Amino acid sequence: MRPEICVEPTAGRAAEVAARLFAEIAQRAADQRSRFLVALSGGSSPLPLYALLAEREDVPWLHTYVFWGDERCVPPGHPESNFGAAREVLLSQVPVPDAQVHRMRGEEAPDAEATRYERLLRDTAPGEPPRLDLILLGMGADGHVASLFPGSGALEESKRLVLAVDPPRADGHRRITLTLPVINAARNVLFLVTGMGKAAVAASVLEGSGLNVPAARIRPEDGRLFWLLDEAAASQLSDSVRRAARREQGTQTGREG
Ligand code: 6PG
Repeated sequence: MRPEICVEPTAGRAAEVAARLFAEIAQRAADQRSRFLVALSGGSSPLPLYALLAEREDVPWLHTYVFWGDERCVPPGHPESNFGAAREVLLSQVPVPDAQVHRMRGEEAPDAEATRYERLLRDTAPGEPPRLDLILLGMGADGHVASLFPGSGALEESKRLVLAVDPPRADGHRRITLTLPVINAARNVLFLVTGMGKAAVAASVLEGSGLNVPAARIRPEDGRLFWLLDEAAASQLSDSVRRAARREQGTQTGREG
């Protein structure tokens, strides 16, 4: 599936498009299957999106089941907790039932928690691999997604859905991460990538030259792949990729009517 690329002038406008897409996908899932299963991303890029989602009236939160793409092995109140950040900006503002918020328990033994979380995914989401309706992803300047880092053996995992992995730096926290099989099983995957620091790796992925970059391994088998970028992150894209993005945006506009 070819990525659907959208370039917006600023990170704020990219977050607005992402919020609209999130709401559309959520409504469609709730209408068709009575549930919306979404995995949130960590990092800072999605925080403006989460703030916008907190203000929307058109997301079926009562039918929403929240997971995470990855988590640092820290307690939920730790400043580096992906759950903690999402709770502060979004989940504390919207009526998602607590029983439907499934954080990765960073305070538990990592390998045991990865096993527990995989069981939870299998028990909650249908399909083999379990199929989520939407997985939000950011991307590091090295092309990592979730906590799948360049050169990591976790990128080659073909059976397990959730793994505990070593930190990207010796001084970092261990991580728990979804693996490619479950990410690529999703109905929709949405990258939100902003800032000049991501421009080189975004171009390598979207121009097809960075094949060994983890982000280039995100190819939903039977789902849609969206890349939402701001001009800074898109600044090294070729004219042909940008023209395709403009055509896509035109189609999107037409589709929205
Ligand atoms: C994490 C994220 C990670 C993030 C990228 C980009 O736990 O850090 O899951 O994959 O998306 O590192 O981070 P920024 O959005 O902060 O640039």
